Amino acid sequence: MTQLIGLFPTPVMRVESLLGADDVAALAKDVAGTTSMTNAYSDRLSHTAVTGDQANSLFARLGGLVLPKVAEFGEVLFGEQLRWQIKEIWVNVLEPGGRQAIHTHANSFISGVVYLTPAHPSANLVFHKAIGGSDFIFNNNNPNAAINAFNAGKWALPVTGAGDLVMFPSYLLHEVPVNQGDRRISVAFNAIPDRLDNLGYAIRFA
Ligand SMILES: [Fe+2]
Repeated sequence: MTQLIGLFPTPVMRVESLLGADDVAALAKDVAGTTSMTNAYSDRLSHTAVTGDQANSLFARLGGLVLPKVAEFGEVLFGEQLRWQIKEIWVNVLEPGGRQAIHTHANSFISGVVYLTPAHPSANLVFHKAIGGSDFIFNNNNPNAAINAFNAGKWALPVTGAGDLVMFPSYLLHEVPVNQGDRRISVAFNAIPDRLDNLGYAIRFA
């Protein structure tokens, strides 16, 4: 017998249709005109200010829907049912031709996105294993090389529908390539647990 073991995999959770079609349409209508901040890297991407999930009834309702799934994903990350809170939440409107530059989310453990429109395949979330470093890098990316989970440097979500929730560890590098489809509206958030306990060495977050 030959075994191939995938050590230390990175979890990404997609919850299909967390929001129903009526909720999606109502939320998309409510948030579409609210983004007043232009992204630093793309003038076809705009955001609302980052705020807490109690800032308005829309975010509060969305937070309530999302939190049970955040706790479920948190149990995968930390092996325990923890008390989670949405620390920040904001709206993104990505117009045709817009993109989101590669980034991570600091001071957060779980980051997620709720889609209020379908994402065109060109503008699905792309996750990266690593970029840069301080040593020389060797790769074998060429037409003869089959990409697999061990040698790939990036991975794109195959499909994202309106009403879907996607969550990932906040340290994971991600980007949205140039949107070749229609306007794409999403609500993003960062979440933290109240506490982590490593053999009695505990730390609280607020
Ligand atoms: Fe992000």
